[in-house]
Amino acid sequence: MLLNILKYPDPFLKRQTVRVSAIDDGIKALVGDMIETMYHAKGIGLAATQVGVDKRIAVLDVPDDEDRRERGKNLVVLINGEIVHSEGTIVYEEGCLSVPGITADVTRAAHLRVRALNLEGKEVEFDAEGLFAIAIQHELDHLDGMLFIDRLSRLKREMIKRKLKKALAAEDRAL
Ligand code: NI
Repeated sequence: MLLNILKYPDPFLKRQTVRVSAIDDGIKALVGDMIETMYHAKGIGLAATQVGVDKRIAVLDVPDDEDRRERGKNLVVLINGEIVHSEGTIVYEEGCLSVPGITADVTRAAHLRVRALNLEGKEVEFDAEGLFAIAIQHELDHLDGMLFIDRLSRLKREMIKRKLKKALAAEDRAL
């Protein structure tokens, strides 16, 4: 089932999520819906907060080559995901399904060690780098109620918020 993706400035996007205590049929169905919604929106990651659910769940499918996507190849489900170690810095022009039409350079850690539960409830630990590491940090931020624009300098953030407000106002007047 396709889920509705919340857009800035929906206050739910600031919600802090809670850990998943048991991976039951409801959680499995939600994850399935999130994956379907991510692909439908042509995203490479989606966090539960973005679909109005305050649980620590994110799905990702980061392509090896951004110009040649192979759906499902790198599909990852992160339940209760956390970064146990990070190193280095990387700058990338990020966008977000909840902040349509806006991109901006964000500085993130370049290398990560990540721990999470998979859909079988098994604890997994793995390394991530490049765009995969960036996407994980972006999604985990969502689960802490933070958008990528909150990572920008105040000046840049205010500029983007003004632009978004103007676009929203124009939408309200659209015929
Ligand atoms: Ni996002």
